[in-house]
Amino acid sequence: MTTPSCPQSSPAEPPCASRRTVLRGAALAGVAGLGAAACDGKTGPKASATPTAPVDLGAADGVPVGQAKLFREERLIVTQTAPGEYKAFSAVCTHAGCVADKVENGKVRCPCHGSEFDANTGKVLQGPAADPLPSVPVRAAAGKLIAGPEA
Ligand code: FES
Repeated sequence: MTTPSCPQSSPAEPPCASRRTVLRGAALAGVAGLGAAACDGKTGPKASATPTAPVDLGAADGVPVGQAKLFREERLIVTQTAPGEYKAFSAVCTHAGCVADKVENGKVRCPCHGSEFDANTGKVLQGPAADPLPSVPVRAAAGKLIAGPEA
């Protein structure tokens, strides 16, 4: 069985996994509460949009006040809008499921077809995506950022 490629993925994006690899990855990813990437062979990788279990994002001070940070491996974007106030969004593009590759000047960029989103609200700033990035619960606890549902 060959591994399908995702022609619109960025060079940094790993090739899409075969069905068998996805199933293996899903079993492992389930431990961390993250979905595995898959590929529909036409529009790029399909990834779960939001975590289904708490995800530890490390030190809360890793996201400075007024800035956003991309956690690409966890497929999340976190902003600290005011001291101690965090917002998180899925980094999975609502157009065709690619994972954002850059957050700069308050904009989240998708490498596949150029969509841009507001890092503070998740709203679409530039298509082709039509829907905003899904919001994800996030909280700071004991100096750590935890995203996703409560345990
Ligand atoms: Fe097409 Fe993001 S997947 S712009």
